[in-house]
Formats: sequence, structure tokens, C-alpha cells
Amino acid sequence: MYPRRGIRFLLCGAFATVAIAAVRQPAERRLPNGIEIWRKPDAKGRACASCHSPDGIDIAAFDFDDATLLRRAYPHLGLSGAQSVVAYIHSLRSQYGLTHLLPPMDARPMQPGGQPLSGKTPSERDQAFALELRSSLPLLASGRVETLQEARQARDQLLALDLSRLKIGIPFNRLSEDAFHGKDHASIASWIPQVEPCKLDSSYIDAQTRYLRQPGTSSLLELDAKVASKPLGVLTAGQQIDMCKARSLLIFQDRLRRGPGAPNPEEIADRGPGPGQNPMWDLGDLCRIYSGITEHDLGLPQSVMRVKRGGPSLDDQIAQMKLPWMWLGWSFDQGLQRTSPDRATRRGDTLVAALLKDGPYPAHCAFFLTRKIAVESYVKQAWISPEPQHLSVNYSALLQSGNLERYSVPGPAGESYRTFLANAFRMCALLESEELGKSHTVYQRAPLLQQFEKMGAATARLDPGHPDSETFAGLLKQIRTATDATELK
Ligand code: HEC
Repeated sequence: MYPRRGIRFLLCGAFATVAIAAVRQPAERRLPNGIEIWRKPDAKGRACASCHSPDGIDIAAFDFDDATLLRRAYPHLGLSGAQSVVAYIHSLRSQYGLTHLLPPMDARPMQPGGQPLSGKTPSERDQAFALELRSSLPLLASGRVETLQEARQARDQLLALDLSRLKIGIPFNRLSEDAFHGKDHASIASWIPQVEPCKLDSSYIDAQTRYLRQPGTSSLLELDAKVASKPLGVLTAGQQIDMCKARSLLIFQDRLRRGPGAPNPEEIADRGPGPGQNPMWDLGDLCRIYSGITEHDLGLPQSVMRVKRGGPSLDDQIAQMKLPWMWLGWSFDQGLQRTSPDRATRRGDTLVAALLKDGPYPAHCAFFLTRKIAVESYVKQAWISPEPQHLSVNYSALLQSGNLERYSVPGPAGESYRTFLANAFRMCALLESEELGKSHTVYQRAPLLQQFEKMGAATARLDPGHPDSETFAGLLKQIRTATDATELK
């Protein structure tokens, strides 16, 4: 059975360097004065604390001006209540020492490296990424991996890379998208749930109070359990998306509050019938599943959808959430073994298909698969199978259906992309050969043979100046003569 509550996986302090600075902790962990206004229910029983962070740190950390605060608070609380909200957010900013406020239009929460790579189209940003790889991973993207020693070095360089710093060409969602700023912003592609994920009753308020007094993993998990408590079956598509947003927002606001020391999101384990262990991946995956959905089937209230029309189509809004949330989710489970029981997800096929179809982002795709394979195969905590940990190569989704030919990288970046892939394939072949030399054991011979045959042929095409036939031919022979562990069972 797939272990739903798996091993905690702390990978190189992922996102230890979120571009967003940690806030100063108040000397005394008392609740800020004025939180009552943040929790004051409107006529429909919803408070700011129902949809935003427990104390408003998400709003306070961003440079929303008073007019914006008034505009958003007024419909809920009337004029004097809205004015109290403004005073409260100001007090929160000074209490937390928030002086460098994040620009709401430019800051993209959790965006690796702080900002996406520039370029007007996915293809331009993918080319920028291929070039970026030259400096981040020189051994793979600009050198030539020929020997076992070089393969090991290239793997170690790949594993040492901090994904939270590696700029990518996929823009993450802004904290808020509000049509007030123009039709382009009439979108649900943001971090905040459109509808409150659960009732702000006394037990939820108590959980928020406990968390604010003692922000930490267990108090955060308690809040997450409340947000994720409804069984999926009773939720509409829109509510499922909102639940994942609310859980992800909890993680983000915790990062704002506690900085790099905050727990990894996998500690927000599945605490009930919620979508799963990785709300960020789940949000992206829901957007994959619900692509093409109608407003009616999404099931969000008319009052919400009315203000989400006239800009990007619903399809585009959903598409704008899909890739960034999948990438973010992947970055917290880089071997992709604990995120979902779905085999296509665990093999990496789901993200490969999304990167190729929605970009295309072939250079991101080549990097993603190679890093995923390296983490799954060499990072102890990423491995969940009862078999001994071994190199688990699977480039099928990229190698099949002529994908390599169809999705090439144009321009000068193409050289870097082809070098990266040819080196990655050789690296895997050399490491596999080393492993077989020691263990003489393969796991599923036929697919492995097929895999490396294709990789050998692709390497010859990607790097025609350097015949590698021996590396691959020698490996294929080793695979044919090794013992197949799965046949022994
Ligand atoms: C039912 C959920 C919900 C409640 C309740 C709620 N908000 Fe929001 N808020 C959102 C969503 C969703 C957004 C993102 C923009 C959008 O989709 O409308 C948002 C955005 C904002 C923004 C940013 C607006 C911008 O210009 O981008 C501010 C400020 C804000 N809310 C303040 C508040 C305050 C203050 C309260 C309480 C008086 C509150 N909100 C109550 C859901 C909510």
C-alpha cells in the first residue's frame, strides 16, 4: 500500500532562502491589539480571518495602501470597521517590524530566486532557463560528462543545487488578483480562497489563537486539520481548489512569520480526508484535472464569478495556476514518491506532460526529470519502496512520441539544452553501469533496456560529434546479464 503518511522529507532546507524576508518576532508572543476586528464576522458570518492568515500578516507584509485596505474591508465591515482594519494592519506592520513591504504586483510568493526569468513567451523564458543552467550546473550544461568520476561530480552538483534559488521561467501566482487593477487581474489565479474554507467558529478561533501564541509545526498542523477537514466528496471543484489554496496560504504565511526556520510543507501532512499531503501539488493537479471546466461545474458562487469575468477566460485562469503550483509542489517532494499514489505522478509523467503542453518548457522538463531521478535514487529520505534504493531512471515521458524532436530549444540556448540532456543521459548510463558492477541486480530488465537504448540513440543525435556507442552498448550488455530482482520474487 502507498504510505500516505510517509517519511518527513527535509531536502536541503528547501526554500530556506525565500526572497521574502522573515519578520521580526515580537518580543512577547501576545496577540496584537485589534485582532478582534480581523475576526469580526460580516453579515454572512465571514471575517478577514476566515480567508486570510490568522492575524493578517499576509496582507500586512504586502504594500497594500490604505485605500486598498478600505476598499476591501468596507463591504464586510462598513466604514468605521474598515478604518479599524487599516489601523490594525498598520499596528501589525510596526509590531512585526515590517518596513520593506512586498510590492503586490511584482512579488510572487515562493517564486524560486525571487523573480521569474524574463521573456515574453514560455519559449523565451525556457531558453533563458537553458542558459541559466550553464552557470548553475556547469558540469551538465556546458561541460562533457565522459567518465564515472565526472558522472559522480555532475550528480553531486545537481543534488547540491538549491531549488528555491534556481530562477525558472514559470511565473508563480501573485498573492492577490483583483479586477480593480484592470481586467487582466480578473482571475482566481491567486493564493487566497474565494470562499472561506471552514467556519470561523470558536474552535477554529481557538486554534488560531494557539498558533499565534506559539507559532510552530504542531499548532500549524492543528489549523491545517481544520481547513482540510471536509471530505473531498462533498466539495465542488471550486471548493477543492479553495481548500488547497487555504492550506498553501497557511504555509506561506508561516514562512513570512517564522522565516527560513519554518517547517517544510510536508509536515502539513494529510490530516484527514483532504486532498493529500502536498496541497501545492494538489492545487496544480486539480487545475490539470479541471482544465476546460465550465463556471457552472466549478461551482463557485455567482458573486465570486461575476468579478472574475471579462479578463482571462476561465480556462486561462485555471491554466495559470496549473504549472506553478505543480512545480512548487514538486519542489517539496523532489523524488515525487510521497505526493500522490498515482503512478503517472510518481514517474514524473504528469509534470512532463504539463511542461511540454503548457509551455512548451523543454529545458525545464529536462532539468525536472534529471533532478527528480537523482533525488529519488540518491537521497535516502526520498526513497519509499521496500526494495534497496537504486538508480531509478525514467525519461520515458520525454523520450516517447517523438517529444525530443518536437520540442527542441531554439537559438543559442539550444546548445546548452542539448549538452545538458546528452550529459544527463551519459551520467545516468555511467552511474547505472557502476551500480550494476557492484550489485549485478536489475529491477525490471525489459523497461530498463528499452530506456537506455532510447537514451543512447538520443545522445547520438543530441551530441553527434562524440560517438558514445561504447558507454551505452557496454551498459546494455550488463543489463542483459544481470539478475532481475523482480523475476526472483
Ligand atoms: C471569503 C473570503 C475572504 C474574506 C472574508 C476576506 N477576503 Fe480579502 N481577499 C480574498 C480574496 C479571494 C482575495 C484575492 C482577490 C480576489 O480574488 O478578490 C482577497 C484580497 C484582499 C486584498 C488585496 C486586494 C488587492 O487589491 O489585490 C486585501 C487588502 C484584502 N483582501 C483584505 C481583506 C480584509 C481586510 C478582510 C476583512 C474585512 C477580507 N479581505 C476578507 C478573500 C477574502
